[in-house]
Amino acid sequence: MRKPLELSKRAQGVPASPTLAITARVKELKAAGEDIIGFGAGEPDFGTPEVIADAAVESLRAGQTRYAPTPGTPEAREAIAHKLRTENGIDCSAGDIIINNGAKFTVYLALQAIVNPGDVVLLPTPAWVSYKPMIELAGGVVREIPAGPTCDFKMTPADLAAHLDGDVRAIILNSPSNPCGTTYTPEEIRGLADVLSKHPHVAVIADEIYERLTYTQEPYLSMAAVPGMAEQTITINGLSKTFAMTGWRIGYACATGSGGAVIKAMTRMQSQMTSSITSFLMPSIPVALEQAMGEVEKMRQTFAARAEMIHGRISQWPGVTCPRPTGAFYVFPDVSGTFGRTSRGGVVINGAMDFASALLDEARVAVVPGEGFLGCGPNHVRLSFACSEADITEGCRRIEEWLGQLT
Ligand SMILES: Cc1ncc(COP(=O)(O)O)c(C=O)c1O
Repeated sequence: MRKPLELSKRAQGVPASPTLAITARVKELKAAGEDIIGFGAGEPDFGTPEVIADAAVESLRAGQTRYAPTPGTPEAREAIAHKLRTENGIDCSAGDIIINNGAKFTVYLALQAIVNPGDVVLLPTPAWVSYKPMIELAGGVVREIPAGPTCDFKMTPADLAAHLDGDVRAIILNSPSNPCGTTYTPEEIRGLADVLSKHPHVAVIADEIYERLTYTQEPYLSMAAVPGMAEQTITINGLSKTFAMTGWRIGYACATGSGGAVIKAMTRMQSQMTSSITSFLMPSIPVALEQAMGEVEKMRQTFAARAEMIHGRISQWPGVTCPRPTGAFYVFPDVSGTFGRTSRGGVVINGAMDFASALLDEARVAVVPGEGFLGCGPNHVRLSFACSEADITEGCRRIEEWLGQLT
């Protein structure tokens, strides 16, 4: 008898992304003609600004179709460094930048570059679904720092200090947060930096992918811009969310500490994995960062209006609490007040997964159950408001009707 191929332990341990699974299911149902309102997808519903697309088409037509330098072309890296210097106050140059196939891969590569098997990586939770699998793929051990809706899902400097010890190698800080939709204020960032600077061996992986999508009067403060923090911080960002470019797969990292060792290590590893990003996309990067900010601001204003709209509706749902979203395009309501009740289709709701699947089956509305986000996630569902105002109105109406029929 032939022995079946055995998967590696690593592969067996990796769960599929639950958020991408929901998005795929909604696409399938819609393709089959079903009338579904999707609050699942974590991507803007806008098209990529034309000026950015034109730059890619032009470079493709001009024949920029060969291998490019692994960390990116000098022009694209300089455009990113310029953005980080002028908009974020991070003192860096082109050599401190690596461009990757989407910020998801940037986070993965950063973890691979700094985490050894057995190292502890701090993860404030609820957290984006991919962090834990990525930490574990690097052999790291996740240590959660839980925070709930009553403190806007944000850890305090004291919470952070209580979780730091000699085993900790890194922390992932994601602000604005997916899934929580909340953002650390500059004062809060400085408070965390105060604690972290006393542990200079701890790498701070600052995932700032939603940095341009904030809805408060407060300015945004990057961790690496706090005096003294650049040495230990790897700043991660990308074009996917800000510029409505999720399918393009462009992410990047900036790290200036340790004589450039982190970016060099990420570049070496990337050279053995994916090489550069698609070469004819490189010229679009300076164009996006330098010429599309007007369009980004329009998208931001639209998201800000939707944030108010959806939060206003959710705040009125009986038994549901939800902090006000201040960034990204998510709300993360606590729906545990419905647990133990029965839906109109006869489902006893015993958790966020039951809530989400009954809602999809019975009300034709897709939300993401919070289990995969860890921490208090199992009490929550995530709704993305990267969809039209009409969808928000109709989706909320369906949810309200469905909630009203729980017994
Ligand atoms: C917090 C966070 N970081 C990184 C990413 C990955 O972005 P990209 O599409 O550029 O890989 C996402 C996408 O959902 C995200 O929510």
